[in-house]
Amino acid sequence: MKPVKVGVLGLGTVGGGAVNVLTRNAAEIARRAGREIIITRASAKDLSKPRICSTRGIIVSSDPMDVINDPDIDIVLELIGGAGPVKDMVLQAIANGKHVVTANKSLLALHGNEIFATAREQGVIVAFEAAVAGSIPIIKAIREGLSGNQIEWLAGIINGTGNFILTEMREKGRDFFAVLAEAQALGYAEADPTFDVEGIDAAHKLTLLASIAFGIPLQFEKVYTEGITKIARIDVEYAEQLGYRIKHLGIARKTADGIELRVHPTLIPEGRLIANVNGVMNAVLVKGDAAGPSLYYGAGAGAEPTASAVVADVIDVARALTSDPENRVPHLAFQANQLDDIPVLAADCFKTAYYLRLLAEDKPGVLADVTRILAHHHISIEALIQKQPLNDQTSVPVIMLTQVTAEKEMNAAIAEIEALPTVTGQINRIRLETLG
Ligand code: NDP
Ligand code: HSE
Repeated sequence: MKPVKVGVLGLGTVGGGAVNVLTRNAAEIARRAGREIIITRASAKDLSKPRICSTRGIIVSSDPMDVINDPDIDIVLELIGGAGPVKDMVLQAIANGKHVVTANKSLLALHGNEIFATAREQGVIVAFEAAVAGSIPIIKAIREGLSGNQIEWLAGIINGTGNFILTEMREKGRDFFAVLAEAQALGYAEADPTFDVEGIDAAHKLTLLASIAFGIPLQFEKVYTEGITKIARIDVEYAEQLGYRIKHLGIARKTADGIELRVHPTLIPEGRLIANVNGVMNAVLVKGDAAGPSLYYGAGAGAEPTASAVVADVIDVARALTSDPENRVPHLAFQANQLDDIPVLAADCFKTAYYLRLLAEDKPGVLADVTRILAHHHISIEALIQKQPLNDQTSVPVIMLTQVTAEKEMNAAIAEIEALPTVTGQINRIRLETLG
């Protein structure tokens, strides 16, 4: 059988890694795919740049269209990134009848509905395992391995850069920006690293996960998104004293009223496996009605871990090239005409427990005012710690854990507490999930 020909757009961290893995493991890959897979063309912006891969035997040009319009190419790997010009490149590749493998979660979260519809019309595959959680085969696990289940919820550490920063800060007391710079040097961070630290990258990934879990269209704009920039070292310490770790989670949960889609720092009981996922590692916990909870763990970013997922997709496409095109696994797991319009809930409909830290005057009656406001909003307190005053200040940090409550009630209670003359500044609120 003739070899499958691959063209690679982008020879950076992921593109370079994919070339290395496809080349190094070519013999083993051919045994798995049933035919040889060869890279014939590639494209990068600056042809004089040193590369992490050899390009011997590959025609490299600075114009991606040279790859996309080459009639010999069967599969285009889109490893440039971004949701701008790359969208037209992918649509052109699809129009040319090419299968596409991409690691680009921002492109798919924003334009995936259109891209998948176009791919279906053209009868080509758009595969995206590398777009979520790096090396972890989480798309395959949910789309295929758990396809007999009703997925109830999933929660994941799905940004390697953010988890790397939180871990280094907690374990070594390192400075936020120094760790971010290291993550960039290691090739973990997005081209715009605010996508990592403000939760946007995790929201892109959660958008994809929620669609394949619940059979809904991609709806990035409806994801409630908070990053890690507001987490203070002191919150990490207080959380630990209460038996929790703070992790940045993406959570998708199906409720009777609709679907919660949220990305935010979260307190997790320290005994949970996912609370102990550190560094650039990612983990996704999926709760299916039949399987129960299952946890998927692995490197969330970096050249070869991500290339592992890219190459797995290439092999899947190579296998599918010889199978019945009508019977492929659907892009978003569910048949395209079977997507549901279950509403995605507004943030104030979320129900979760909370960690609250506030600075209150150290005098009688102040805590009573705070607890009265909480009670008025039907919010029960699970634990409360009053710390010693900092330096010679008259205010003391008060830390509370609440039971599960409606976000709308919590927002109202926080506004009232912050308005008390005895409370200084803003309340630091972090959501808490037991993931039980
Ligand atoms: P890099 O910045 O390392 O690589 C991007 C590549 O695209 C570079 O080789 C660059 O060329 C090339 N490029 C940029 N613009 C053009 C253009 N107009 N024409 C041709 N080539 C172009 O990014 P990454 O490899 O880190 O990321 C690639 C994708 O993978 C992104 O979508 C990212 O979100 C995703 N991803 C990244 C992971 C990671 O760990 N880094 C993990 C999972 C997904 P040049 O080198 O000459 O500048
Ligand atoms: N910037 C991303 C991260 C790359 O750190 O998780 C992997 O998607």
